[in-house]
Amino acid sequence: MNDDIEQIINKAAKEIKNADVASLENLKVKYLGKKSVLTQILKSLSHYPVENKKKIGTQANKAKNIIESEIENRKISLRKTLFDEKIQKEKLDYSKSFYFPFPKGSFHPVIETIQSISAIFKSLGFSIAEGPEIETDWYNFEALNIPKNHPARDMQDTFYIDEMKNLLRTHTSPGQIHTMEKHQPPVKVIVPGRVYRNEASDASHSSTFHQIEGLAVNENITFVDLKAVLMDFVHKFFEAKLSVRFRPSYFQFTEPSAEVDMQCMFCKGKGCKVCKNSGWIEILGCGMVHPNVLKAVKYDSDKYMGYAFGMGAERITMLKYGIDDIRLFYENDLQFLKQF
Ligand code: DAH
Repeated sequence: MNDDIEQIINKAAKEIKNADVASLENLKVKYLGKKSVLTQILKSLSHYPVENKKKIGTQANKAKNIIESEIENRKISLRKTLFDEKIQKEKLDYSKSFYFPFPKGSFHPVIETIQSISAIFKSLGFSIAEGPEIETDWYNFEALNIPKNHPARDMQDTFYIDEMKNLLRTHTSPGQIHTMEKHQPPVKVIVPGRVYRNEASDASHSSTFHQIEGLAVNENITFVDLKAVLMDFVHKFFEAKLSVRFRPSYFQFTEPSAEVDMQCMFCKGKGCKVCKNSGWIEILGCGMVHPNVLKAVKYDSDKYMGYAFGMGAERITMLKYGIDDIRLFYENDLQFLKQF
């Protein structure tokens, strides 16, 4: 190869090797452009002696091709380096701690009620249990002394899952049965949970809501124990020494049964809109466990007795904060929820 052309190739190779993206463009002009030495050589071939013409021409063209492909290769390798650097820079380091600009959440007011009621009963010696939301007819009704076709079932129409056997529990009372099946007396338990009723929703009804069940069974439990525990609960939960009264009532699974009213905390018993001027607000149902319920779990009903109670978590929350529509709890409206 012609010495001059070989020198050009070597010089170009060195410069291309060290070029960055911008200088690469300049090198292209310098070695391959119109004014480049190689182009000049090709243009002036006519001045060369005939025997050299072809040789020089071929060599100059070859040199151009070599330089051109070196420039292309350098371009590709620069692009790859840039890409690798970018990937490296943008790679996420999952071991780093991140700041998440999301607002901190809190418990739903109904869940908070369940938690604080559970804590109060825990402090009174109760343990906390949970039962399944899908129950059989036996646990939800029969074992609680509510036989098939009994009118008491109308009060708790439910969602049946199959052939009238499996259903969504209508109350937390089946928790009593599960607990007594698993444990021998003494039993002292709270069963909070979600329950379902087949009914239309309005300001005070919802097809899904929450209850808190209570049960205590032992040898010498009396109505006085029930009264003491519930009065203590009311005073602690509402943080006021409100009066409590027991009104005779009827439930299939307790005998005698009672409904508990407490003095209206909004008017302190004077009468207002919330208590419909009566001065009293109904908060729960209770009674002494019916012997048939004890028999259903094979407890000796001559030896053991107990009390039970059940309350609605939404209702208690509404009373505590003066909320007048149960539907507000389920709308997920942050403006409402943020108040608690
Ligand atoms: N299970 C009843 C209901 O959903 C509430 C209830 C009343 C529970 C009296 C009890 C009780 O344990 O003794 O309407």
